[in-house]
Amino acid sequence: MADHMIPATLIEGDGIGPEITASVVEILTKIGAPLEWDHQAGGLGAIEKFGAPLPQPTLDSIRKTGLALKGPLTTPVGAGFKSVNVTMRQEFGLYANLRPTRTVVPGGRFDKIDLVVVRENIEGLYAAMEHYLPEGDDPKGLAYGAGFNSRRECARIVRFAFDYAVANGRKKVTLVHKANILKIFSGIFLEEGRKIAKEYEGRVAVEERIVDACAMQLVTDPWQYDVIVTTNLFGDILSDLTAGLVGGLGMAPGANIGPNAAIFEAVHGSAPDIAGKGVANPLAMLMAASMMLAHVGRQDLSSRVDSAIDRVIRVDGVRTRDLGGETGTAELTKALLAAI
Ligand code: NAI
Ligand code: MG
Repeated sequence: MADHMIPATLIEGDGIGPEITASVVEILTKIGAPLEWDHQAGGLGAIEKFGAPLPQPTLDSIRKTGLALKGPLTTPVGAGFKSVNVTMRQEFGLYANLRPTRTVVPGGRFDKIDLVVVRENIEGLYAAMEHYLPEGDDPKGLAYGAGFNSRRECARIVRFAFDYAVANGRKKVTLVHKANILKIFSGIFLEEGRKIAKEYEGRVAVEERIVDACAMQLVTDPWQYDVIVTTNLFGDILSDLTAGLVGGLGMAPGANIGPNAAIFEAVHGSAPDIAGKGVANPLAMLMAASMMLAHVGRQDLSSRVDSAIDRVIRVDGVRTRDLGGETGTAELTKALLAAI
């Protein structure tokens, strides 16, 4: 293997994390992916060892490598820990959340889907500036929430979407908003989006959709979409919707990208209900690893991984339990190793 090795942080995570991470690492090793793993703790496991779900050595490692593959992390409920995902996005300025949606399992209601949701990851209503106000006798009778969208960030996320479209041969970007009602809060995104779109005229087409209409069309005619770019909360909701079109969480990868770091992960959580049973679907995390390979310039290896996934699902007909079959994690991994 002549390639120089690229250092990358690996967090195997909680629940099904260790099972699916082992599967993914085995496949990446088999194709000679030039990644040198720095194993770090995160989630519940890290709390037991370091007293924090995202301990300092893990943060230091990601700061150094600028690249991480992360298994799902259990966020303890009500123990006063801030969400690990939100912490990482803020800590490393991971402003773009990239969620590709592609039909792999054929013959369903939504065949041949191939679209991408680009979600703004650090502003919007996720600023979570919220509190109670009194109403009548009730000191908590009213809930107040606020958020913010900056011009700079709206422009940056829309530019990211257009650059992604250019780099990946995609033809159209749809700006998704609610500027008809939230004329300022969502309007600023649309204004900046239109400006950026002009710079790509003749190369990438632009469309606009109001978010609720977009949600309806994603169910009635998702094929009309190519790249969708939108603000934080709308992107959160729409990207789960699109994951549902192609077989659910076991098939949905995601990337959190910023100027200095990129973190790749499955969209799903730690699935405690099936942890340790050997039935978890590793494909979402494998697809995330494939995105990571493309991100570091190894499109060749990324395509090999994608082709192996296609082959195992389409030709060999392998299905894990979440896809309605009975194949376990180990057996699926074996099939992938053979196909690759
Ligand atoms: P979940 O995604 O872990 O599970 C939802 C359902 O999908 C479960 O029935 C599970 O068995 C199934 N599922 C998920 N991934 C699967 C896979 N790869 N193969 C087969 N089936 C799969 O969501 P849930 O139960 O709400 O959350 C569990 C924990 O994960 C919580 O502590 C939550 O905070 C955390 N979480 C972490 C995320 C992350 O680290 N990115 C994202 C979402 C949740
Ligand atoms: Mg979500």
